[in-house]
Amino acid sequence: MKHKTLKGFQDILPPEISVWQHIEKISRDVFKTYGYQEIRLPVLESTDIFTRSIGETSDIVEKEMYTFTDKGDRSVTLRPEGTASFVRAYVEHHLFNNPAPQKFYYMGPMFRYERPQAYRYRQFYQIGAEAMGVEDPKLDAEIISMLSKILNSTGLEGVNFELTSIGCKNCRPAYRDALKNFLRDRLNSFCGDCQRRFDLNPLRILDCKVPGCIESRQGSPAVLDHLCADCKQHFDGLKRNLETLSVRHSINPNLVRGLDYYTKTAFEVTSESLGSQKAVAAGGRYDGLVDEFGGPPTPGIGFAIGMERIIPLIKGSMSKAEPPDLLICPLGQEAPEKGLLLAEQLRSSGIWAEVNYEQTSLKSQMRKANRLGAKNVIVLGEDELKKGEVVVKNMVNGTETKAVLEVQELKKIIKAGK
Ligand code: HAM
Repeated sequence: MKHKTLKGFQDILPPEISVWQHIEKISRDVFKTYGYQEIRLPVLESTDIFTRSIGETSDIVEKEMYTFTDKGDRSVTLRPEGTASFVRAYVEHHLFNNPAPQKFYYMGPMFRYERPQAYRYRQFYQIGAEAMGVEDPKLDAEIISMLSKILNSTGLEGVNFELTSIGCKNCRPAYRDALKNFLRDRLNSFCGDCQRRFDLNPLRILDCKVPGCIESRQGSPAVLDHLCADCKQHFDGLKRNLETLSVRHSINPNLVRGLDYYTKTAFEVTSESLGSQKAVAAGGRYDGLVDEFGGPPTPGIGFAIGMERIIPLIKGSMSKAEPPDLLICPLGQEAPEKGLLLAEQLRSSGIWAEVNYEQTSLKSQMRKANRLGAKNVIVLGEDELKKGEVVVKNMVNGTETKAVLEVQELKKIIKAGK
């Protein structure tokens, strides 16, 4: 074949698209009850939006961004995630002037030049949420509970909420020192990237996926043991609030996020059914990010769900093709045009009607009705047009109902047969 999608990119076709729409609808419904409003952001941004926030030494910035120079000689990047773009918009439009908390959600494609494999794409879709302006861990608990509600409502089963705190700019220097002291003697056993990151950003060594590095960092100090009083109090509060809301979770002190902007709360929702790409959703707090983008110090927290990862986990997700309510089978000279008009009128009253525009025999028209799975069929021949009467054949239960050739009557019969 001459033309194909790029590696790591995919077409999403019917009937699978109905599962996507279903998840999007569930999410919108839940977002509404929590006061989240939709925000649509560009997929292309100035490169520095991502480098400074996600982190120069993160895998995303070092290896995975779709960055190019546009015709105006600017370095631009296809967004690898939504939070940096969101915070750029939050500051650009002075949204911090509105009363807190301000809550937003987005849905759309993200781009990362990763090695494609099962559940890992170069263009993938996220449903993300961001809540701004509140430091209290009750907001963390609320947003995690909302995520749990969305995932539960999609019918997702067997996922774990893993939670940790990664500290803040006050407790991080001491943790960084403790980590460096641990790593220093064994640095030779780490990969080149990790050795380079030792001075630049040693915390990134905890996120390295090279098996030898995973092995060598066994027993490294845990950030949870180095939290300052404020972070500890915040984390204890969050755990308590999650108990109050009955959100089942576990503490994973080894949880590391691949983005540098996080502070305090970090979480991942994982599934063992996805092999190595086990995170179906993830997020955390980013209390310093608005500040970094030039806005007034404003705390924030959010998450993003990976669509391509939750869809395979939803039972019966490969939905069947939707069948039309009615197939009109015209026979003879006049009938096709009458059929065209009748279908249009039925559609205006909410019936999904199709007309067979191919002038074929009755037998082959009925074969087509079966192939489409049409719920009802009417044959529109010369006789029917002359009498102004048709027979509605219900293809599900086999009943036949005589009807006047009139929209409201046909609608009633079709609706009653559903
Ligand atoms: P992230 O952990 O990089 O966080 O991505 C969130 C989710 O997107 C992952 O848990 C995964 O389900 C999905 N995902 C990531 N990369 C891929 C890929 N290559 N193929 C398929 N799915 C993928 C963020 O993006 C943060 N912006 C989340 C956030 C929002 N934090 C605060 N607010």
